[in-house]
Formats: sequence, C-alpha cells, structure tokens
Amino acid sequence: MLNILKFPDPRLRDKSRKVEKVGRVIQDLAKNMFETMYDGNGIGLAAPQVGELVRLIVLDIPLIDPVDPQKTKRDPLALVNPQIVWGEGNIQYEEGCLSCPELVVLVDRMKAIRVSYLDLNGKPLELAATGLKAVCIQHEIDHLNGILLVDKISRLKRDLYKQKRLKIAKEEKDMATVL
Ligand code: NI
Repeated sequence: MLNILKFPDPRLRDKSRKVEKVGRVIQDLAKNMFETMYDGNGIGLAAPQVGELVRLIVLDIPLIDPVDPQKTKRDPLALVNPQIVWGEGNIQYEEGCLSCPELVVLVDRMKAIRVSYLDLNGKPLELAATGLKAVCIQHEIDHLNGILLVDKISRLKRDLYKQKRLKIAKEEKDMATVL
C-alpha cells in the first residue's frame, strides 16, 4: 500500500514528467496504485498523489451488469502519458479526491473525450470516454499538471480548507509522536 499525499503537500503541485520507457518499474507502480486506490474506495489515482512524478494514472469505473444492475464488475484501466486529443460538451459532476479529504466540489468538465496513451506494455492506443469516465480521466490528468480539486473553489473557501487540513495534519503528527 502506498501513502497518499494530502493537500497542501507541495509535491502535489509539481508537474509530472513523461514516461520514456514503460517497463517493470511503471508496471509495479500501476499495480500498487490500483491496490491503494481500491483500499481508499477511490475510482481514480494519479502517480503524483503517491509521490511519483510520472505521467501515469489508474482508474476503475465499475461496469454495471445489463441484466442485473445491482451487480458490478471491475474495469481497471492504466494510462501512461495520457493526452486529451479531442473533447466536446459539458458535464457537471460532484467530485471528490483522495488527496483532498472531505471536500466535494461541483466541477465543469468536457462530457466526451478522446485520449491517446500508452498501455502497460508500452503500446500506443486511443480510447473514447463519456460521463463519469471522462470526468475521472480529466480529474487525474489535472493531477499530472499539479492542478487539484481545491483550485476549483473560491480563494476564501480554499484558505479555510487549507487551515482545516493543516490543523488535522498537525494533530496527526502530534499523535504519531505520542504513539
Ligand atoms: Ni484526485
């Protein structure tokens, strides 16, 4: 399990670098990111959130069984060097983020996108996504560019949220010292 960096950790603000070679290191990182994401009940995770400044994101928007909508199936997807090559429309979705606990923000995104990327074998591919999947990919690509959910709220709200997070981080640190 990997440690997820939380706002306002300055490392979340760095721009991630392109992956030059998809090999064992990236494959292992993706595997650990999936486990960390599932453990946190997230639907997406970007490498910089676990302190690795590389352009890798993982997501899993569960597939709903057409016969029995109560049943869902995992649909893990890892994208290396993802790039939005086309997009249109508008969708608003209430987003959360594992790096911004207890924050839910209604964000404007493109409704449909096409993304070019490399898979975990280094093969160049393209995919089309709409709805929640498109939202999730755009959110994770933001992370690769140092953009966070807190950037989508007002300066005043962001300052309040920052103070709250710093207080919690300090308490957790004090706790760690005691234990
Ligand atoms: Ni996030």
